Parts: sequence; C-alpha cells; structure tokens
Amino acid sequence: MSLSLKKATAYTVGLGLVVASLAACSSSSTSSTGTATGGSGGGSGQLIGVFMPTTQLPRWNRDGDELKKDLTADGYKVSVQYADNKNDQQISQIETAINDNAKVLVIASIDGTTLGPTLAKAKAKGIKVIAYDRLILNTPNVDYYDTFDNQKVGTLQGQFIVKQLGLDAGKGPFNFEAFAGSPDDNNAAFFFKGAYDVLKPYVDSGKLVSVSGKWPKTVDDWKQIGILGWGSDKAQAEMENRLNSFYTGGKKVQVVLSPNDSLALGISKALQNAGYTAADFPVLTGQDADQANTVNILNGLQSMTVWKDTRAEAKQAAKMVKEILDNTTVDVNNTTDYNNGVKVVPSFLLAPQVVTKDTVQSILVDSGFWTKKDLGLS
Ligand code: GAL
Repeated sequence: MSLSLKKATAYTVGLGLVVASLAACSSSSTSSTGTATGGSGGGSGQLIGVFMPTTQLPRWNRDGDELKKDLTADGYKVSVQYADNKNDQQISQIETAINDNAKVLVIASIDGTTLGPTLAKAKAKGIKVIAYDRLILNTPNVDYYDTFDNQKVGTLQGQFIVKQLGLDAGKGPFNFEAFAGSPDDNNAAFFFKGAYDVLKPYVDSGKLVSVSGKWPKTVDDWKQIGILGWGSDKAQAEMENRLNSFYTGGKKVQVVLSPNDSLALGISKALQNAGYTAADFPVLTGQDADQANTVNILNGLQSMTVWKDTRAEAKQAAKMVKEILDNTTVDVNNTTDYNNGVKVVPSFLLAPQVVTKDTVQSILVDSGFWTKKDLGLS
C-alpha cells in the first residue's frame, strides 16, 4: 500500500510529554564498519545503529559522517552502515544491530515499505526507531521521523520555474520536461506533489508544453516518470531519449523539472552532449547542493538547487537519540501530517532553502557547507 499523499486526516494528537522508556543499558560489541566509540557525553557507550542507503548518492555520506560525529560526542557507540541501495542488505544490517542490542536505530530506508517484520523485532527488545529523511511505512514500530519538509522541496522547485520563466507575467509557452525520483522512495512522491500542484495549472493552460507527453495525468501517477535508484546515468539516458525523439529540427527544450541533483547531473550531461551551452541552457531544477551540481550552477549548467543542510538534519536526529535515552521529552514540530499507513508519526521538519548562482557564496560557502576550493572558486 503506498503512502497516500493526502495529508493525514486531522488527528488530535496530543503533543503531551513523550516519555520513552529508557532501554536497559547494556554494553555490546558490534562487528559493523564505521563504528566509533568515546566522547564525553553521557551516552555511556550505548550502541546506536545508523543506516544510510548508499555512498553512491553524495548527500548520504555527509549525513553518516555528521551522525557519527555528533553521537560519538554524546558518548554513544555508533555503527554507521551503507547498503549500496540494496534493500535486503540494509535489512540484514538492521537485524544485526538489533541482535547487538542497539538502543536506538536511525534509518534512512531504501524501501520504507519493507521494514515491518524487522522493526517488530526491535520493538520486542524495547529498541526505539527514528526514520531519517525518508518515512518508514506500514508499521507501528517507528517512533519518530526526522526530515526536511519534502513537499516544500517540490513546491520551491515549481515556484522557481514559474518565476524564472515569467509565467505569471504572460510569458510562454515553453517546452517542458518533467522527471520524478525513485519509485521505491516515498520522498519522491512528496517532491513531485509539491511541484505538480504548482505547475499543473500552467500545463493545463498550455503555458508549459510537455513535448514528450511524459507528464502524469494525476499526481499519484508520478512513478511513470520515476528514475529507479535516483541514478544519474538513468536520468541521462532518459533525457537523451527524449531529446532524440522529440527535439529534432531545431526544437529546443526550455525547462526541466528535476527533483534532485543526482538526476539533474545526468540531465545536464545529456543537454551538454546535445549541444546546449550556458547561453541557451534550459531552466533546470535540483536538490541537495551536491558538489558537482553546485559547480554546474556557477557555470550556468543548472539553474538552482534546494539545499537541505544535512548537518542540521543529522544534529536533530542525534538530539532525538539523546532525548529518548535520557528519558526526556522528544522535541517534534509536526504531529498531524505524517501518516505512515498505520499511525501518524511524530516528526521534526526542517526548512529547505533555494540556492542559485547568486547565493552559492552567501548560503553554501559562508555556512561552511562547501569551501571555495571545493567549488573551484578563487
Ligand atoms: C531522497 C532524499 C533526497 C535525494 C534522494 C537521493 O530521499 O531526500 O535528498 O537526494 O533521496 O538521495
């Protein structure tokens, strides 16, 4: 059952005092990679399991590094594992942590619909679960959700397109191509809904012309234009196919909705290979402020990215871990919208931010997210 995109029926979920039972403290060994121990915090060496999808998608490396740093500083033993985007591998890693008596699991799931049986084992041992960035679905055994407002990411992408093209100032029509994220990632549904709700009126009015026709009839049909595993190569191949099939005889694509930077990187390569330059590059959106994409933005080969400061997201998850294990109130700011198909999961949402060529310095460099050197700036 896929997560319905409709906001959950309004629940009166009393914020109240969320008091998690303090799991029995017991030291445990762990054989996983990326384990760190120490730090001056009160974590008393309790094991925390951290599970990221893959190192191949740049942003998750930052998340894992920051979580290891913050949780270690709090005195926990931390096992950070990556699963090469292989769902069975991630499930096996989580089960190992459960057997190793981890106290809290922080999970950026590969396929959030498949963890029910594993998380039932966690529940049976009093282990708490934080869904990280991607909501875990169809199980009561996820205790908290730490994320950016992912529908807002899509809304910002849609609004950027409208503004950049001057659609509300009578400009248009423009040749438009749309992409969506990995069909197994329910975040992709949120990204697409945010953008779709903004852009649909302009497609319906003919201001945005889906030349390839790859524009879903309804918001729930987004998987039709999804790119499995968020692969840059797959996105590049799809863009090349569209260019070769629909953009002949001098017809130019003028705007591309890409939900994140890994797809935008492939799309940008396809456009450059087809002869597009900064002088006639289409409006191209993205997300994550990945290094290569930020350089592309500076060089006019991508128009914007939606920045989610993964340091802040990781710090928030580490804070939740400490609040759980210190048996204090777990700080959340959304207790109504994230229905995972079984329950509304108490969540903490952070705010995403648009970055363009003019704000790379003030937002990404000045915050230390990237250095000038990282970006080839003098
Ligand atoms: C999403 C995540 C995005 C995007 C994508 C690929 O779930 O929220 O930041 O990068 O995965 O990693």
